[in-house]
Amino acid sequence: MNRLFHLPRTAVVLLAWFVGCTVWAAQGVDAGRAIYLEGQLASGAPLQASRDGGTTLVGKDAACVNCHRRSGYGGQEGRSTIPPITGLYLFHPRNLEAEHDLPYVAGMRGERDPYTDSTLARALREGLDAQGRALSFLMPHFALGDADMAALIGYLRQLDKSRVPGVDDGTLHLATIITPDAEPRKRQGMLAVLNQFFADRNIRQPKMPAHMFTSGKTAYSKSMFRSHQQWQLHVWELSGPPSGWQKQLEKFLAREPVFAVISGLGGKTWEPVNAFCEAAALPCLFPNVDLPVDRAGSHYGLYFSKGVVLEAELIANRLLDGTAPLRNVLQVYRAGDVGEAAAQSLAMQLKQLDVHISSTVLAADAPAEAVAATLEHAAPGDVQILWLRPADIAALPLSPSGDAVVYMSGLMGELENTPLPPAWRGQTHMTYPFDLPDARRVRVDFALGWFNLRKIAVTALQVQADTYLACGLLSETLNHMADNLVRDYLLERMQDLLEHRVVTGYYPRLALANGQYFASKGGYIVHFADASGRRVIAEQGWTVP
Ligand code: HEC
Repeated sequence: MNRLFHLPRTAVVLLAWFVGCTVWAAQGVDAGRAIYLEGQLASGAPLQASRDGGTTLVGKDAACVNCHRRSGYGGQEGRSTIPPITGLYLFHPRNLEAEHDLPYVAGMRGERDPYTDSTLARALREGLDAQGRALSFLMPHFALGDADMAALIGYLRQLDKSRVPGVDDGTLHLATIITPDAEPRKRQGMLAVLNQFFADRNIRQPKMPAHMFTSGKTAYSKSMFRSHQQWQLHVWELSGPPSGWQKQLEKFLAREPVFAVISGLGGKTWEPVNAFCEAAALPCLFPNVDLPVDRAGSHYGLYFSKGVVLEAELIANRLLDGTAPLRNVLQVYRAGDVGEAAAQSLAMQLKQLDVHISSTVLAADAPAEAVAATLEHAAPGDVQILWLRPADIAALPLSPSGDAVVYMSGLMGELENTPLPPAWRGQTHMTYPFDLPDARRVRVDFALGWFNLRKIAVTALQVQADTYLACGLLSETLNHMADNLVRDYLLERMQDLLEHRVVTGYYPRLALANGQYFASKGGYIVHFADASGRRVIAEQGWTVP
């Protein structure tokens, strides 16, 4: 009786102890994460660090992520290489057999003894490595108490993920996401490119016979294994209103774990998709969206450009340069479409000017003909800004009011293919957030040749060229990553690789510095050469607003 009575008590005590430990460990990792990513100690005080010369770094500026990056794998920073500092790289025993099992990362240190918790604490506080040799002055010395130190070391240990979702023997799972309001013609074009790219890649990388996977003893066999992986595409088609998308995506991911999201196609909003990718820490690489999500604290979405918001910046830049007198600015957009956000952004930027800014809004379901009525509000000499799609543009009145200065979004209006009525062409300036047609021809021909050879119908060239570019970038990045299939590292390597890319499709140059998420940062303002053709002429050089 007594014994029986005791048993559950012991179990309860054990359980409480176990729960306590797990909670403590989770809190420890959270505290470590806050130090690593935010430079914030458990007490809430900012992390403090100093360099030999006496300079002090405080809080966010001292955070490890600035140099060792989110993955903990470090990288190249100017001319110095920053070493990886995940548990695996710090504590691995110093012997060759083991090093072969350690995936290659530029900057990994093979020439020292493994750290212990206490030599690691010494490295962070005093700048001495596992063998007591001084680390370079670039690595600051940190003021960390014992509890914070333990939390930070715990965080470094758990950065090594033993299993990454979407990666299994021989297959790498990737998804693409399509919103229900995506244009069918673009959807068809994008999917044709994605399917073909995956098929091509899988033929070039024939599946390896099983016995070649198994040893895993040498670096060689492992990296062979990775680059011979087959890619499998999962197409996640969303349905219903945006409020339900995040739930649908969570279900897709639970059913079909993927390593990353590649390309994708949106319509009026990408917000819920972005929120999902952030919450799942899932890289979302270069979706075709006119209004990307630009939010502080977002890390997982990479975009080719800031879309219509970049166009608003280009127009603001022009209007603010003060050469043309400004009285009224009238913006026209359709309710619920991406032009709404662009118009808001532009209005914000023009606030400092002494001008009257107004907008007229086409109801979401109004027929295109209604666009004429919106322009009746225009006063003589107004600057009119059209955030409209081709169907609405085609329905503009035959000619604009005599002295109106007109700007239009090239992205929404289909660039030089826009159905802008002839009489408007002499008076309209178009934002052009791409390289000009002649300048980009050779680079786009590269994609076009690939489409032609594979009999891919060109239904939406720019979307298809961007999709092809996104696939090429992913493929090259994965080859560079060799064995290290870790999501944060994918984003970091992608950022590093972009600088060296020659074939950049529609964009003159792509770059993503640490902490940047929009690869192409500028654009032109153009006008039509004449009333009938498609030739456009830049009014100023490439402008980065
Ligand atoms: C300003 C950039 C910078 C910051 C911030 C930074 N480090 Fe470093 N760290 C470096 C550099 C550079 C080295 C390589 C030093 C050398 O080559 O001797 C390094 C080396 C290290 C090493 C030694 C690795 C080895 O293999 O011997 C560890 C451990 C380390 N850092 C941990 C951290 C932690 C933890 C933080 C945050 C609390 C941090 N670092 C913040 C730049 C930085």
